Amino acid sequence: MTQNFLENTLYEMDNLDVLRGMNSETIDLIATDPPFNTKRNRSGTAGFYVDNWKWGDTDILPDQWKWNEVHPKWLEEIKDDHHALYHAIDGAKHCQGEDTAAFLCFLSVRLIEMHRILKPTGSIYLHCDQTAGHYIKMCMDAIWGKKNFRNEIVWFKGFRGTPRKNRYQQEHETLLFYSNTDTYTWKDMFSEYKDPTLKRYNKVDDEGNRYALVKRKRANGEVYYGKTYPKGKLQGDVIEIPVLSSTSKERTGSPDQKPLKLYERIIKASSNEGDLVLDPFCGCATTIIAAQNLNRRWVGIDRRCDARYHIITRLMGISRKERERLEKYADDKKWLEKQTHRYEMHYQTEPPTRTDENEQTSPELAHVYPIENKHQLRHAEMHDILTNQFGLKCWGCNFIPPDKRYLHLDHIIPKTDGGTNDIDNRALLCQPCNTKKSNTMSLNALRKQNKRDGYIQSNPPIDLQAALAWTRNYLIQTIRET
Ligand SMILES: C[S@@+](CC[C@H](N)C(=O)[O-])C[C@H]1O[C@@H](n2cnc3c(N)ncnc32)[C@H](O)[C@@H]1O
Ligand SMILES: [Zn+2]
Repeated sequence: MTQNFLENTLYEMDNLDVLRGMNSETIDLIATDPPFNTKRNRSGTAGFYVDNWKWGDTDILPDQWKWNEVHPKWLEEIKDDHHALYHAIDGAKHCQGEDTAAFLCFLSVRLIEMHRILKPTGSIYLHCDQTAGHYIKMCMDAIWGKKNFRNEIVWFKGFRGTPRKNRYQQEHETLLFYSNTDTYTWKDMFSEYKDPTLKRYNKVDDEGNRYALVKRKRANGEVYYGKTYPKGKLQGDVIEIPVLSSTSKERTGSPDQKPLKLYERIIKASSNEGDLVLDPFCGCATTIIAAQNLNRRWVGIDRRCDARYHIITRLMGISRKERERLEKYADDKKWLEKQTHRYEMHYQTEPPTRTDENEQTSPELAHVYPIENKHQLRHAEMHDILTNQFGLKCWGCNFIPPDKRYLHLDHIIPKTDGGTNDIDNRALLCQPCNTKKSNTMSLNALRKQNKRDGYIQSNPPIDLQAALAWTRNYLIQTIRET
């Protein structure tokens, strides 16, 4: 697909809008580190997560979500189009509670977009920890498919901070690695040698790699010295890199900064030079700087108001002291503009607009009604229209429930088989029918199966032909009116 945004760009805004605006299959690699739902600060919310953290603040980022603040549209989208994901989140709600479920909704609507914008050769690394990591794995299995799960990488960071009582000290975080297909970009990585017998590799080349000079003979008998490098051992799924110390030169002052070395390792293994690397939660720009160092193109997104300042001061490659001296420019627009220009990066506060979208109305109607005629019936509206017109009845088994909460709005042709979200592809189903049909059956197949299983109720059935003609006509009317 054509890339509808500039590379080497920072979007300083909510990543959902940016991700939704990007054309499909345009990104090679996503390496990202979202908030962890650690509940360390109570001021964050699900729909309107406000990030007040600024350069110089000593406070920890707000990192908490509430179920009653989950955007109804998010839930609708998940429930409608991503059955497995919905159940994964529901499971988390039962096991860990509503806050975790709210956090997973926040993350999942974004992950759905990340999956869409990755190229078929693309991969994602999602950084998490034990707070919600196991539930995130379920959500990612639902979105990427379990066959595209590659590794759970343990970042063994060592322990820092105040020891916790009566339990093991937490010395690792996890990165979940998925690819979009099974033909993904991959390069074998070798772990660094620590073996003392490697003393003989006592020379260092221009790139800082150790090597030894070894005596060799040419065909004519001439003797010369050639370089040999230690090969190292194939990188395992435990990557040991110490957490940045408070005095590390790399430190920017941001509380959740990750080591460059870790992200460089990931980028090297899963992308080529010139590839496009995205970090939608880029924070103080670790992924971005790692990508830049390795000659990859990049896009960063963060809604933090000082995101640009972080990228720029790190692109400058200056000392920590120097950076602290430049703090006073953190929100000086003029200075930031100048540096943005100098470091050949772009800065955006408006999301891109997709240019690859054409499936808005039913495919058969697309040629009659141009795509600008997006008919926008909401989930709840469609539910109301169908119950008003056809009464309280399950279209799959003729069951008559006590009230409309028992009926789910389903797709007649599953989304995965190209069914649309429009009203002429919708049916009302009771819970057991809805579960049985899932993403895998058409409505007709469900009715046949129910007949075989003896689940058809004695009430007169909905006339499917007539119902479809009615909803089709309704759709055409709404499109005409808008
Ligand atoms: C854990 S930090 C990333 C740190 C980064 N890995 C580093 O080493 O610099 C998470 C970042 O996500 C950002 N963030 C949270 N919600 C966001 C959203 N909806 N859109 C964009 N950025 C968001 C926060 O501002 C924060 O900077
Ligand atoms: Zn039913």
